[in-house]
Amino acid sequence: MANLKQIEDATSTAGTRRAAKAETLAKRQLLVTAALPYANGPIHLGHLVEYIQTDIWVRFQKLRGHRCLFVCADDTHGTAIMLRAAKEGRSEIELIAETQQEHERDFAGFGIAFDHYGSTNSDENYELCKQFWASLRAAGLIVEREVSQLFDATAGTFLADRFVKGTCPRCKSPDQYGDNCDKCGATYSPADLIDPVSVHSGATPEVRSAPHLFVELEQLHAFLAEWTQSGEHLQTEVANYLKGHFLGEPLRDWDISRPAPYFGFEIPDSPGNYWYVWFDAPIGYIASTWQWCKQHGEDLNDWWKNPETEIHHFIGKDITYFHTLFWPGMLKTAGFTLPTKVHIHGFLNVAGEKMSKSKGTFIKAETYLQHLDPAFLRYYFASKLGPRLDDLDLNMDEFVNKINADLVGKVVNLASRSAKFAARTGLAEKYPDDGGLFKQAAAAGEDIAAAYEHCDYAKAMRLIMELADRANPYVENAQPWVLAKDPARTGELQAICTAALNLFRQLVVYLAPVLPRLAEQCGELLGEKIEHWSQSQEPLLGKSVNAFEHMLARVKKEDVDAMIEDSKEKEACSTSTPEVVGSGAVSGASDPWKDSAEPLQAEPLAETCSIDDFVKVDLRVARVLSAEHVPEARKLLKLTLSLGGDVQKTVFAGIKAAYEPEALVGRLVVCVANLAPRQMKFGLSEGMVTACGPGGAEVYLLSPDSGAKPGQRVH
Ligand code: MSP
Ligand code: ZN
Repeated sequence: MANLKQIEDATSTAGTRRAAKAETLAKRQLLVTAALPYANGPIHLGHLVEYIQTDIWVRFQKLRGHRCLFVCADDTHGTAIMLRAAKEGRSEIELIAETQQEHERDFAGFGIAFDHYGSTNSDENYELCKQFWASLRAAGLIVEREVSQLFDATAGTFLADRFVKGTCPRCKSPDQYGDNCDKCGATYSPADLIDPVSVHSGATPEVRSAPHLFVELEQLHAFLAEWTQSGEHLQTEVANYLKGHFLGEPLRDWDISRPAPYFGFEIPDSPGNYWYVWFDAPIGYIASTWQWCKQHGEDLNDWWKNPETEIHHFIGKDITYFHTLFWPGMLKTAGFTLPTKVHIHGFLNVAGEKMSKSKGTFIKAETYLQHLDPAFLRYYFASKLGPRLDDLDLNMDEFVNKINADLVGKVVNLASRSAKFAARTGLAEKYPDDGGLFKQAAAAGEDIAAAYEHCDYAKAMRLIMELADRANPYVENAQPWVLAKDPARTGELQAICTAALNLFRQLVVYLAPVLPRLAEQCGELLGEKIEHWSQSQEPLLGKSVNAFEHMLARVKKEDVDAMIEDSKEKEACSTSTPEVVGSGAVSGASDPWKDSAEPLQAEPLAETCSIDDFVKVDLRVARVLSAEHVPEARKLLKLTLSLGGDVQKTVFAGIKAAYEPEALVGRLVVCVANLAPRQMKFGLSEGMVTACGPGGAEVYLLSPDSGAKPGQRVH
């Protein structure tokens, strides 16, 4: 197995080199998308991880002077929307129009600056779907087969897997969804469930058979293996996951049609059948671009059939399959440009758990905005987002501390301590001696840019805060507020304020992708527009300074508490149909109801131990470098862990039933680093990885939040 460190080094240096080359040689043209949110529910903080991540990347590219187009749209089709409209006694069109307005309002509230926001229910999308369809047909990829599916005669609709519940055919646990069992992990088809019921009407579904159209993805196997494994387009762990889960065997045919009634586009050469929502949804990326092109007199081919245009998709890990296998296959067949990169992020948990309506941690974008400044969340997410797929946790105490300590205490502080004096003195003609601070910070610009480019915003924020940490003591020691009292020292005062405001401005340029409003405020103060990265490289001199207007207030814990209180769903308004958090494509895994319904298996707490006892156990963050099956062992995987630097350990872990080795490579775990080594039949085990759960398929590895580094000690 390849050494992960080597892969990382190779990809990041190649990537940096490519980016640097592209920078110096030419202006890049980039088309960027975020996933199209379902039109059947409100935008929540989980979604915002993605839209904020993408918006930061787009603003960064624009600030670097590249031509970058950011498109998105509402994903409007499918059964869920059809049934909700029926339940509310209105048309789907009315429902999706209202939802779109709400989505656009919420995105604007968070400063997500799409160049165009469309809808998959558009003429352009229908046109393009027909084109894709014709190409798939012409390539001989479409086949027809009879499919037996459960049908809810009361609601008059076929039932998608997650709209059926019943008893698991394997372990007999009640109340399981139609595609997999939460308790024993079995996967099956909904028709196999014992005593199935429709979640829409409670009716017992009947089995009906209908012809469905399938895409024979296997015909594209060689191409997809090449494309996904080239090391160019996907994060290493995603490529490994696809290799381990899909590409090792023939790719399954993809059921791409749904019989009426269905809210979507009817298939032109198959009347009574509709394209499954996941067929027309990604095509919506192109349709939205086309609408923008029409409004701006541009040629769609320049964006989607031009090898010079980079295409970047940002998505969450739950929709990996669609974007890394099916979508490239469709694009290839229809002759459109393949994605340059699919950037995949992890999921948001709140206070260490899945978002929950009863606990008030299912926080809607709208509710957040009633209580808190959007800049806070943008900065907080930026400080936690790395280039990998680790989930991230919104911890309210950390949120309050980070904003108050970093943004208010370190960044805005530089301006608020000097701007009102600078309004009197103006900026000096010549940049004063600041002990090299401005120069150092200018030199750090390329590292910060590289971190943004690689979606390592956590690193970018760290680098920027290090600069702020150096600038603050300088202003602190010079005490402009003391100098201001002595008219004989106006020259000194002007010098120190010139340095302080320029150091502030430099940080603000670096932070502009994350904090666009702060960049505007800084611009208003200094009478310029922050619009190019290069503004961080030269100080602003010999100019007057406008009156200082308040920029960012501290976060108050009461406001956070009030937001959570407001988010708690009152009994009376809870609905029986679960509103999906995340994608409807993955059942259970992203459904908040399932967790809260789970009974707590009470295991008595162990005897009290002293802190001295605890610290004897040396828990360390470790990166999984390789993971392999141990052919002779039923339960074990052999892991090679990096504990930072050159320290590596081999560990045999009883997690085989719960994890595919490929999925582990690259992730962080917590290991007991000073456990006495144990000689096993298969080799020496030099430690232990920590996990919870009863065992078997139900083992959950612990991992730190993103930002943690291999070798760090767990206290
Ligand atoms: N409609 C599909 C995407 C079609 S793209 C051609 C969909 N919609 S969604 O509304 O469920 O999710 C939109 C995006 O938000 C997805 O990329 C999804 O991964 C992301 N997130 C939804 N909930 C999330 C969290 N709790 N945390 C992080 N991202 C999450 O999927
Ligand atoms: Zn089961």
